[in-house]
Amino acid sequence: MTVITIANQKGGVGKTTTALCIAEQLQKKKKRVLLIDMDPQCNATTTYQAQIEDEYTMYDYLNRSKEDTFTFRDMIQHAPGGDIVANDYKLAGVEAQYAADWDNVFVIKHALEEITDDYDFVIFDTPPTLGFYMKSALIASDGVIIPIKAEKYAVDGLGNILDSIERSKEFNPRLQVYGVVLTVFDKRNGLDVEIERILPESGEQIGFPVFKTVIRVCQQIKDAQNGQQRLIDAYPKARATEDYRKLVNEILRKV
Ligand SMILES: Nc1ncnc2c1ncn2[C@@H]1O[C@H](COP(=O)(O)OP(=O)(O)O)[C@@H](O)[C@H]1O
Ligand SMILES: [Mg+2]
Repeated sequence: MTVITIANQKGGVGKTTTALCIAEQLQKKKKRVLLIDMDPQCNATTTYQAQIEDEYTMYDYLNRSKEDTFTFRDMIQHAPGGDIVANDYKLAGVEAQYAADWDNVFVIKHALEEITDDYDFVIFDTPPTLGFYMKSALIASDGVIIPIKAEKYAVDGLGNILDSIERSKEFNPRLQVYGVVLTVFDKRNGLDVEIERILPESGEQIGFPVFKTVIRVCQQIKDAQNGQQRLIDAYPKARATEDYRKLVNEILRKV
């Protein structure tokens, strides 16, 4: 089982989209995939049409007491979008409470031991913060993928996440940066083209790999998410479908 975290402390850079699209492309290749939503904004949970109220969620697992008999496997929902561990809006704003006890950061890592034979891939979608939820995912992962959008300080912002990854390596030495991937790429936009050009160079200087594949701007991504559909099913010929297919092929050469 290969565990991949999608992370960037910036919001709106395509983390959730990348998590969803990587998961569906892997499923298409007949891989057994579990998506774990670590973001209390629940975007992945909603797109998968998973339940928050009537099913076990990450909230229940993090609040489990010694008397509780449910296991991590009980968290998994076979939702219309695929297999998912849902998040819960209740986890927003209570991150510090979990972070107070350092041992908590290993809870998810240990939980995954229960399902190592059940899945080929686990994909973590994470919130736009360098907090407890993201650290929990990094400590449980083999590799991390960092989506970025062409913005003025996008590359500078990478320093912070790379620091967090380095610190997580103290507790999880196998953690690798699979790469940075440029998303929402628009070749008509000068800044996008400029960032695409300098990214490999910055990567060599700062020390991170860059995926050759870029994810082009694509309206069908929004349409699919609004309709709670999988991009690959709703728009098999969209350019983002093609880009994510290429990205997954690159990922498979790294794991
Ligand atoms: N390649 C793309 N083309 C067009 N819109 C995109 C693309 N990737 C993501 N989006 C849209 O941009 C917004 C932010 O993406 P999202 O994946 O939710 O980012 P994050 O999880 O980092 O906050 C969403 O509305 C999403 O549908
Ligand atoms: Mg998101």
